[in-house]
Amino acid sequence: MKQATLHQLKVFEVVARHKSFTRAAEELFLTQPTISMQVKQLTKAVGLPLFEQVGKRLYLTDAGQELLATCQEIFERLEQFEMKIADFKGLKQGRVRLSAITTTKYFIPRLLGSFCQRYPGIDIEFKVTNHEKILSRLSENLDDLYILSQLPEQGDINYQAFLDNPLVVLASIDHPLAHEKNIPLQRLAGEPFIMREPGSGTRSAVQQLFDQHGVSVKVKLELGSNEAIKQAIAGGFGISVLSRHTLGLEGISQQLAILDVEGFPIQRDWYVLYPAGKQLSIVANTFLEFLLEAAKQMATQTAEPSL
Ligand code: PGA
Repeated sequence: MKQATLHQLKVFEVVARHKSFTRAAEELFLTQPTISMQVKQLTKAVGLPLFEQVGKRLYLTDAGQELLATCQEIFERLEQFEMKIADFKGLKQGRVRLSAITTTKYFIPRLLGSFCQRYPGIDIEFKVTNHEKILSRLSENLDDLYILSQLPEQGDINYQAFLDNPLVVLASIDHPLAHEKNIPLQRLAGEPFIMREPGSGTRSAVQQLFDQHGVSVKVKLELGSNEAIKQAIAGGFGISVLSRHTLGLEGISQQLAILDVEGFPIQRDWYVLYPAGKQLSIVANTFLEFLLEAAKQMATQTAEPSL
């Protein structure tokens, strides 16, 4: 391995991540023959094949997988070193990788705006996806911090609840139930229901409540987007359960009503977490502190009107 260069390791890491020479060439702005040559030289230095091609697909060999894990550790350490040096120079510089469930997109992007103003040297990679996909990113150690509403059952993690994330029943503003009080949960069984996709945390929390009370709803439509669900409700398609955070300030929310249904809101929290063994980088820590501070402020602001 003494002959291997950092550049070759970088090229290899990108090919291994995309499982494609073409996409690696695109990401690195290099030609495909250059990529192939770098991987060939690295393979020679390792002394074992790193990839195997089956049909059109590229797979990592055992040696390739081992090398990929090693490369990821090396690059993470180098990134941390760069951040430390920047910190010595009095600068906060580096990249924070963040993945979060869909409902946080009504809160986190705004926060990112003020964070980036305060720390112009910090770049953010922000991935918004559903609960199940966040868990799989967590198991692959792809990000620095993860935000979700239901803690993983397995794995040693550091976590902190930072804001509530209640789930409410939504109907169109002119729905007959919109003005009723104390609606029994069972009444929802008679309504056309719009459900989030399998893998969604919202869906599993709702399903759990219905199962506990033996309620079976008529799922007329399954949608993978909170926005699309709100449009469908406003269009009179049926009712659904979503996080109250999805009721942002935009126009569509004025066409929706929160129903007063027994068992609702389902009280949940947003948690920020990371694997217990992970050493958070300086910039990830900076973001974590910023997030917790902003959440504290937001919680006092929302609490104030009812004081
Ligand atoms: P989901 O999570 O996007 O997986 O439904 C949202 C939430 O739990 O608030």
